[in-house]
Amino acid sequence: MNRRIITIDGPAGAGKTTVSKALARELGCVYVDTGALYRAVAYEIRRREINWEDSALLDPFLDGLDLDFVMAGKEPVVTSSGQDISAYIRTHEISMLASATSAVPNVRKALLGIQKSIAQERDAVFEGRDMGTAVFPNALYKFFLTADVKVRARRRFEESNASGISFEKILEDMAKRDADDTRRTVSPLQQAPDAILIDATELDVSQVVEKMKSAIKAI
Ligand code: DC
Repeated sequence: MNRRIITIDGPAGAGKTTVSKALARELGCVYVDTGALYRAVAYEIRRREINWEDSALLDPFLDGLDLDFVMAGKEPVVTSSGQDISAYIRTHEISMLASATSAVPNVRKALLGIQKSIAQERDAVFEGRDMGTAVFPNALYKFFLTADVKVRARRRFEESNASGISFEKILEDMAKRDADDTRRTVSPLQQAPDAILIDATELDVSQVVEKMKSAIKAI
């Protein structure tokens, strides 16, 4: 059976997670944060001290990974070998490592199966970088959500002001992550030709969700 798949791609800090959650709630389907999978890989690389630049070490590590999403109440959380690791994957260090390791083709390949298998089981909103381009090119609805880099960095700064990292550092690292995610050879961050572009620089979450809902009705 063909499931209803909606994809939301875009750069870090554009509000994809909040918007995806809200849209999924409105549509009565699940949301899947695929960035959490890339973060989980980075977290396990760091925890097990894998030299990921050496494919002879990376490949067996990827083969042995056991990542999944399980529902914790209404929220899906990412698990590694059955352990909920969602509390450890949002640090600044893991953000940067996830961006670097996500450029490795075998990392992307290892995560493809799990993303596709979720899509076979249920209707879902998938958010990430290559959902509408590489993973679900035939998705029913595709969105590309972006916003000015300073606005995105400001949001991240406000979310993480207890971490002690300055706004300037967050802005600099976000610009680097944008550049790395966009320029990598495999599945770079880019708008699918048939995706609807939404610039959220001057929009709040509910306005973005309204735009998406009216696009879905109009298609
Ligand atoms: O969405 P996020 O910031 O949690 O994602 C973390 C990193 O994972 C991001 O820098 C790029 C990578 N990523 C990816 O390459 N492809 C995806 N579908 C999702 C995330």
